[in-house]
This record gives sequence, structure tokens and C-alpha cells, in this order.
Amino acid sequence: GNKNINAKLVLLGDVGAGKSSLVLRFVKGQFVEFQESTIGAAFFSQTLAVNDATVKFEIWDTAGQERYHSLAPMYYRGAAAAIIVYDITNHASFERAKKWVQELQAQGNPSMVMALAGNKADLLDARKVTAEEAQAYAQEHGLFFMETSAKTASNVNDIFYEIAKRLPRV
Ligand code: GTP
Ligand code: MG
Repeated sequence: GNKNINAKLVLLGDVGAGKSSLVLRFVKGQFVEFQESTIGAAFFSQTLAVNDATVKFEIWDTAGQERYHSLAPMYYRGAAAAIIVYDITNHASFERAKKWVQELQAQGNPSMVMALAGNKADLLDARKVTAEEAQAYAQEHGLFFMETSAKTASNVNDIFYEIAKRLPRV
């Protein structure tokens, strides 16, 4: 029969990587050029039907500003899934993403489904991180990787769908 699954999902990543924009695209189908920097964290929920199940994502969109770093464990603790976001035009944001992966692998739920999102994939001319580099990192650390664009919607539903498929069926 059809299963209902509730899944807590957290987005982590550098300031301006596009966490809020990805959530806004996924939940409301919208994009804004001047998205405000998140204060603390914001909560959203969205339901997705996948094969045999209906997954209700309970999404925590965290703030990338360093002063909020100490709040992050409240959001990733007990999370079933995480999307670690970087901006393909900003190499420092990729380095920050790797730090988040390390922190989650040390402190997070060991069965957490983790996705690495190389966002702003529409800005090809400004690319600083190759897909090959990110894919190799993801493979080595047991994440799955996709390049996304909150602006064009490329791979946004797909990354949530891929997570939903990988969640343990209770
Ligand atoms: P914090 O809340 O400060 O941690 O940042 P954030 O990760 O939530 O980034 P946010 O979604 O606020 O996006 C930052 C800026 O990048 C905004 O001006 C967005 O419009 C822009 N942006 C986000 N995603 C994309 C994208 O896929 N393509 C392009 N071109 N711009 C994007
Ligand atoms: Mg934000």
C-alpha cells in the first residue's frame, strides 16, 4: 500500500549559495533576484509522491552567516536528509560545503541521506568549480551530487525527488 513518510530535511551552506532560493523554487515555484539573507532559519513543508510513498518534507532552511553556525546542530540533529549547497561560481563556497559534510559526518545522524548541490548552474560563464571536481568529492564521501539552478529550476525538483527515493522505507 501507499506509505506516508515524514522526513526532516536541512539545507546547509555558505552565505549566498542559494539555499533559500532552492527552497522557494521547490515549495512555491518562484525565484527572486534579490533574496534576503536568512536570519536564524526558516521552516517550510512540501509533499512529494514517489513510487510507493508520499514523502512530507519538513524543511529547515538555515542561515549561512557564520554568526549562526552554533545553531546548526538544532536543525541537522535528527534530520533524515541534508542538502549541502555551494555556488559553482564561488570556490570558497565549495570549501565551506566540504566543512559542512565533515561536520555532518562527525555529528549527524549516520543514516542521513546527503546531497551536494552545485547551485547557480545557469551562470556557466562565471564557473569556478567543475562538475568533475564536485562529483569526485561527492563520490568519495558518500553523497550524491547534482548541479542545480534555482533561477531556471534545473534539477531542483529532481534533487528532492532523488532524496525521497533514497529515504529508508520504515
Ligand atoms: P543565506 O540565507 O545568507 O545563507 O543565503 P542563501 O544560501 O539562502 O542564498 P539566497 O537563496 O538568499 O541567494 C543569494 C543570491 O543568489 C540571491 O540574490 C539569489 O537571487 C541568487 N541566486 C540563488 N540561486 C541562484 C541561481 O540558481 N542562479 C542565479 N543566477 N542566482 C541565484
Ligand atoms: Mg537563505
